[in-house]
Amino acid sequence: MLLRNDYWSLLCRGRKKKIVALIVILIFLLNGLFYVSLELYNTVKRKEKEPWYSSLHFDKNSYVDETGMRVIVGHYVGGTNGGNLSEDIINSNNYAPVAGAGEFGRPVQLSQRELITARELYSLHSYNIFVSDKIAINRSLPDMRSDRCKEVVFDIDNLPTATVIIVFHNEAWSTLMRTVMSVLMRSPPKLLQQIILVDDASERRYLHAELDEAVAKLDKVQVLRNPVRTGLVGARLMGARKATGDVLVFLDAHCEVTKGWLEPLLDRAGNDDVFICPHIDLLSADTLAYTKSIDAHWGAFSWRLHFRWLIPSTEVLKKKSENPSKPYPTPAMAGGLFAVRKSLFWRLGGYDEGMTIWGAENLELSWRAWQCGARVEITSCSRVGHIFRSHSPYKYPGGVTKVLHANLARAATVWMDEWADFFFKFNPDIALIRDQQSVGDRVELRRNLKCKSFGWYLSTVWPQHFFPTDQRWFGRIKNDKGGCIGLMPGAVGMGTPASAVDCGGTLTLESLVVFTPEGKVMADEGLCLQQGNGRALWKSCSDSSKQIWVQKGPRLKTQSGLCLTLVVTKDSRGVGDPLTAKRCVTDNKQIWHFNRVPWR
Ligand SMILES: *[C@@H]1O[C@H](CO)[C@@H](O)[C@H](O)[C@H]1NC(C)=O
Ligand SMILES: *[C@@H]1O[C@H](CO)[C@@H](O)[C@H](O)[C@H]1NC(C)=O
Repeated sequence: MLLRNDYWSLLCRGRKKKIVALIVILIFLLNGLFYVSLELYNTVKRKEKEPWYSSLHFDKNSYVDETGMRVIVGHYVGGTNGGNLSEDIINSNNYAPVAGAGEFGRPVQLSQRELITARELYSLHSYNIFVSDKIAINRSLPDMRSDRCKEVVFDIDNLPTATVIIVFHNEAWSTLMRTVMSVLMRSPPKLLQQIILVDDASERRYLHAELDEAVAKLDKVQVLRNPVRTGLVGARLMGARKATGDVLVFLDAHCEVTKGWLEPLLDRAGNDDVFICPHIDLLSADTLAYTKSIDAHWGAFSWRLHFRWLIPSTEVLKKKSENPSKPYPTPAMAGGLFAVRKSLFWRLGGYDEGMTIWGAENLELSWRAWQCGARVEITSCSRVGHIFRSHSPYKYPGGVTKVLHANLARAATVWMDEWADFFFKFNPDIALIRDQQSVGDRVELRRNLKCKSFGWYLSTVWPQHFFPTDQRWFGRIKNDKGGCIGLMPGAVGMGTPASAVDCGGTLTLESLVVFTPEGKVMADEGLCLQQGNGRALWKSCSDSSKQIWVQKGPRLKTQSGLCLTLVVTKDSRGVGDPLTAKRCVTDNKQIWHFNRVPWR
């Protein structure tokens, strides 16, 4: 064995050898440097490539939808029973601001010891209440607006006034008060008529006398109490009936508004028949850090009527880039935050009071707005942070499914026409409760307002939709070897490689696709089959020519003449095997059977 010194002297005997050794070492060093920098570069690049939400370590399944878009899960909060926490803990208000914590929207980091307590308390609200209690209710936030938005000048004297309505149920004290304080601090006094807090029958003790006392010290703020829990719709209506401002501004109880948030909302709501939504930024549920969310998104919904954030149409994106401060249309709103002229809100029928607790009321309102002559828009110039939670922490009397299904059934029955048949056909459990909904008054409202059809809505407001229509083929595209074109359950994301799926039963939406006259193969969630480098992919539907598949007899061909092929890898009847575009040959792996399925 050579000692280091021996090794060194062996290498370095003589001048020539010294030079050689030096060169060798240099090469090693440079090589090392190269690899280190490559690794660094890759890390940075990976970081850049990671989706913006990856910094949020939540359960992505219930939170960021399969297309990589953000989904609002529970914009109407409440508490759980708090697991094993004692009554005293559940009912105590532990707000104790630490100087500087969370100022300027910065994250609050906890020590290892604090983390233990924070985790225990987390289940109370499904966000980090321990962190929230450390942050001052009047914390500072940066101006989140773009430069173009800051340039817009509003004529404050001629804007309508606002009544801000905040419904809460078992909300954390610090979070609720921070919502209120942010509105008070960042709204021009002249424009803020009042803030109405509506308590939807909260059980937490700190939300009773303690809240009343705190609110009594604040100008313009009042609390209304709902004696029995009705849910979001009932409580918001209670607030709206007491509103004296010109414009109703609905906010969730776990928001923070930023500088200049109110003016763009009032300007738009005052001037047109429009439900105008602010741009929703993220308040981390773990650290309460304020982060900007992606700039261009709009709201829509899946085949199962789950609300989804999607990328707006190319046309809307183009207009938006030309004029970034101008509000842009959205097919649907998330529902938690929006402003509307009070007179328009009532003229269009307020809310559907038959809807309890939470869910689907945002779709019902969006469809009603568009179909009955108003609009739904988002303005990027009004920035409001919102705590997104991995799951809704609150109790649904009768069970979330029952409540949500009943609300969905109501909305679909009243507004969706033929597409209601589609929804009920493929959701038979919801179809079962369809007839239990008395929606006569809502149908009459629709008739009185002379509202347009759902078909009009789809083709005019959301032409990029992925629902079947009379012009679009709908059904199962099955490979001769077995397996269907479809979305692998649970394994779908933007850019997910496409595999054949189990063809399933007649109602399995995962194995059903829309095949449009222009040649797009659309699955649920706004995903289109796209030719990749080799493997076919599921990508957000776009104008890309790689998403065009031409049906030639039993074959599906790309524009460059390749054939969609099932690459059978094992004896699996095709299920799970990759789909790819290959040179066309005589092979039954390139043969597809088109089984039309009636969608209504
Ligand atoms: C409650 O405590 C029991 C026993 O100590 C434990 O098994 C259970 O996981 C706890 N539940 C929650 C929600 O913390
Ligand atoms: C918040 O309120 C406290 C106490 O009233 C005050 O000292 C502090 O300056 C306020 N913070 C901001 C950002 O206004």
